[in-house]
Parts: sequence; C-alpha cells; structure tokens
Amino acid sequence: MSITPKTSIRSLVSYRPEVTALPEGRQIRLSVNEGALGPSPKAVAALGELGETLHRYPEQISQGLVKAIADRFSLKPELILPSNGSDELIGLLATAYLEDGDEAIHTQYGFLVFPQAIRIAGGVAVVAADDGLTVSVDNILAAITPKTRLIFLANPNNPTGTMITTRDVERLIAHVPSSVIIVLDSAYAEYIATNDPDYTDGAAYVETHDNVVMLRTFSKIFGLGSLRLGWGYFPPAILSVLASIRGPFSVNAAAALAGTAAVSDRAFFDRSVAHNNQWMPRMQDSITQAGFDVVPSRANFFLIRFRDADEAEAAHGFMASRGIQLRKMVPYGLPDCLRMSMGDDEEMAITAAAFKDFAETRKS
Ligand SMILES: Cc1ncc(COP(=O)(O)O)c(C=O)c1O
Repeated sequence: MSITPKTSIRSLVSYRPEVTALPEGRQIRLSVNEGALGPSPKAVAALGELGETLHRYPEQISQGLVKAIADRFSLKPELILPSNGSDELIGLLATAYLEDGDEAIHTQYGFLVFPQAIRIAGGVAVVAADDGLTVSVDNILAAITPKTRLIFLANPNNPTGTMITTRDVERLIAHVPSSVIIVLDSAYAEYIATNDPDYTDGAAYVETHDNVVMLRTFSKIFGLGSLRLGWGYFPPAILSVLASIRGPFSVNAAAALAGTAAVSDRAFFDRSVAHNNQWMPRMQDSITQAGFDVVPSRANFFLIRFRDADEAEAAHGFMASRGIQLRKMVPYGLPDCLRMSMGDDEEMAITAAAFKDFAETRKS
C-alpha cells in the first residue's frame, strides 16, 4: 500500500508566495509588503544581547513581549498570544475549530493563506464574493450555513488594500451567530491613523464578544518579516485552546527580543507611517500619470490595473529587467493587476521612472 497524506492535503493546490533569496546586485523588492524602512534600529540592537544565551530555550510565551504589546496598544495582556508569524495563528484557528467537512468563509480577493489553512484542516473553503474589490459584509452573511464555523477577513485587505468601515464590522458581528468565530486579520492596521473613526482593528470587540478574534503581525510596519513574529488578541476560551496546540517554542528568543524592542520604538513607527503617507499618494499619482489605473489603498501596498493580463505580464517582466520586483496577481484571480508595496525614497523614485519608461514602450 502506498503512503499518502490525508484526502484534504492530497487535493491541495499549495499556495507559496513568490519569496526567494534576494539575488545578487541591486534589487528593489516591492512584492511582499515588507516595511519600507527596514527594521527598527532598536530591534537590531536588541538582537545583539542574544549571543551568550543562544543555548537556552525561549520562554514559551514571552511575558516581556506580551507586556510591550499590551502597553503599546492599550490592550489586556492576558488576551494576547504571540506566534510564529500570524500565518501560524490562521493555521491553528482552522485546525482547532474545523471538523472534516465544516465550512469556513473567506473573501473573494482575500489572503490566500485563509483557504489554504481551511483545506489543510479538512474544512470546506466557502468564498464570499467581494463588492468590486472590497469585502462585502452582505455576501459574507449570505454565505453562512449551519455548517459554518469560521469567517476570515483581512481589514485592510491584502491584496486589494481596500478597507471596510467600523460600521460594517459592527454589522457583521451583530449578525453572525455567536457559535461562529470571526477572524479579523488586521495585519496592516498600523498604517491607518488610530483616530480614524471609520476604522477598527477589532480589538475592542474581542473584549466584548466570545467569538471575535484579531490577528496582527510584526512583518509589515515593524520590519521583522525574517524573524516570523505575529500575535493575536483572543477571548480567553479561544486563547487557551490555541495556546495548548501551538508549538511550545514557536516564538524564538530572537523574535521575542526584537519584537519587544520594535513595538516600543515610537520614533521608528512614526517615521514609517509618515513615509507611507507621503509615498502612497505620490506613487499613485505618478503611476496614474504614466497611464495606468491604481486602486486606492489604506495599507502599505496597492494594486495597479493594466489593460489586460498580457500587459500586466509585460509590465512585470519590464520591471524585473530593472531589478524591480512586483507581485503577480494571477493566483488571486486578478491577472490584469500587479501589486506593489512602498520602498524607500530612492526605490520609489526609480520605480516611478520605470513606470514612465514602460508606458513609452506601449506607445511604440
Ligand atoms: C492579511 C495578512 N495576514 C497575515 C499575513 C502574514 O503575516 P506573517 O508574516 O505574520 O505570517 C500577511 C502577510 O502578507 C497578510 O497580508
């Protein structure tokens, strides 16, 4: 008898982001929504403390990290669970709450890790169609059946960069049965001003509802993608389930140390937000002026829409020939789009110039 994995994994089309080793020479990587300004210098300095203790297992749940997150975002430390990237929490939620054949809803142009995690767990991934390029609360509500256990949505959404309002989030929470967990993935929350009344990261609802959870990451504004560090904010019962199945040491000591320093580094954070606020409209303007459509975004990346899939492919190749890596959107069902994230000042200037040059090739 041959050795085979379980049925749900046999039929899985594995989603692997295009992240490869950075090639030699100057490369402008705008394809994975990394922080534009690199890591917080305080995080880099903190890693220097690690050397002498490399032989020690890390704390299972770093209390220093939990306290730093709670202090920074005014949250309850007992509801915070750090993880090996927020990807780990997406997988753990699906593993913990989906029996074979249970349904979990994800949104049409949403993060591809959601359907993958659902399928790996043996669940059925149910798509809620977006309204244009924005998550539709009505369509999510319409997709709920007695078999629904989980709803995954990112806000702002990756890859579209669009956001749903606080009022929509509240409407969703009000209408979803209390037996269904709503996962609000707020990976890009930090790019939105905390005093914007139209936006909620969802944390407040975690404190008042047993079925709402929020996910966050250190891979974006905090610039720690290489260390794999995320965290979630959970009602106590869900936190205790996830903590019991999470790998005991899934957050390594380097990640905990660097994350503690990064989340407390207000100067770096403010600089990163200001940089994004400055470049988002500038890049969108220059690409629009070059003759391409852009999708307004609330995150640190945006979609560029081309005439058709062939033109998007040509633009991707043209940019690659200049050392500029953009992300193809074919796996997301948007083959006529490319996604680009913000880089530093020089990278943005080079990219804007490259778009102008690409536009010239269209005319000839
Ligand atoms: C919406 C969303 N959630 C989660 C993640 C994964 O973050 P992490 O690096 O913490 O696993 C990403 C990264 O692209 C994302 O866009």
